[in-house]
Amino acid sequence: MDYLQLGRSDMRVSRICFGTWAFGGWWWGKSDDDESIEAIHAALDAGINFFDTADIYGGGRSESVVARGLEGQSDVYIATKGAVLFDDKWMTGVSNEKAYLKRACEASLKRLKREVIDLYQIHWPDNKTPVSEPMEALMELQKEGKIRYGGLSNFGIRDLEVALDTARYESIQPLYNLLHREIEAEVLPFCDENEIGVLAYSPLASGLLTGKFDSQSQFPEGDHRRDHPDFTEEAFQRNLRIIDQLKEFAEKRECTVTQLSVSWVLAQPGLTCAICGARNAMQLDEIVEAVDYPLSQAEVDRINHIASSTE
Ligand SMILES: NC(=O)c1ccc[n+]([C@@H]2O[C@H](COP(=O)([O-])OP(=O)(O)OC[C@H]3O[C@@H](n4cnc5c(N)ncnc54)[C@H](OP(=O)(O)O)[C@@H]3O)[C@@H](O)[C@H]2O)c1
Repeated sequence: MDYLQLGRSDMRVSRICFGTWAFGGWWWGKSDDDESIEAIHAALDAGINFFDTADIYGGGRSESVVARGLEGQSDVYIATKGAVLFDDKWMTGVSNEKAYLKRACEASLKRLKREVIDLYQIHWPDNKTPVSEPMEALMELQKEGKIRYGGLSNFGIRDLEVALDTARYESIQPLYNLLHREIEAEVLPFCDENEIGVLAYSPLASGLLTGKFDSQSQFPEGDHRRDHPDFTEEAFQRNLRIIDQLKEFAEKRECTVTQLSVSWVLAQPGLTCAICGARNAMQLDEIVEAVDYPLSQAEVDRINHIASSTE
């Protein structure tokens, strides 16, 4: 495993961060806690020391599973997120209000069974509270010793700039993969200039870039991919054509499309980690090997060419 410093923090995190959204069950159909815990243990065996969760993932279930899987481990970093409101069945809104975020952080601490959260991230903007308010929440939580560092997820460039005027944060967590490269224009240069870590989520486009789906694939009730634009209609057909070409390229290179896609994310300048989701140890083992297959610049160029084809 390779490790990098996260922003200006004292954390040296594995370049594969284990994303545990699916462990919560919501949006992913079913999940099995024993299988999830086994995957966490496989991650530890592979040298992964960084785990990403959120309170909304299964309404606290993912955080509780992460706590069980990491019980007794002291040399690992846990990143969680708050801001999405939920009841015992589903999400009910988003809030960036300070009082709410501080309560949410306390609840995450309890579920994670930790005295301090290594990285606490504001999950989504609520599009009404000025960004200075969640930043003040992060500052206060840090002063109170409840979090070590703060981060932002899904915020646009203007908010990221304004947020930095209020308080230092060490990471952002945006969507980034071969099919979604929006952050390259402004967000990545901003983070580079300000030494802010970048944790790319959905590096496999929620499984699409594993190459295991085809035009007949169907998703069960409760699986968010059933209605996801990447998996429906014309975009899906176009994505499948890109993936066919990636498969050919991966075969020549003697790796899998999964590994090629994760290696591509890790090869991008300014990227600290790829937050990879896996339902079980077997999926994770395949992902982890991507670290052993660094891409040359010529290979990155070739993959860029394939991914930008619209035919
Ligand atoms: N901040 C945010 O708003 C946000 C949003 C999304 C994600 N995230 C974070 O990023 C993490 C990863 O994102 P993600 O879960 O959307 O997507 P991902 O890493 O792009 O894809 C993960 C999914 O792909 C499938 N998969 C993975 N490895 C595989 C393998 N070797 N063979 C076959 N299938 C495989 C599994 O689903 P199936 O087996 O069901 O196909 C797995 O759950 C999340 O867990 C979460 O921590 C954050």
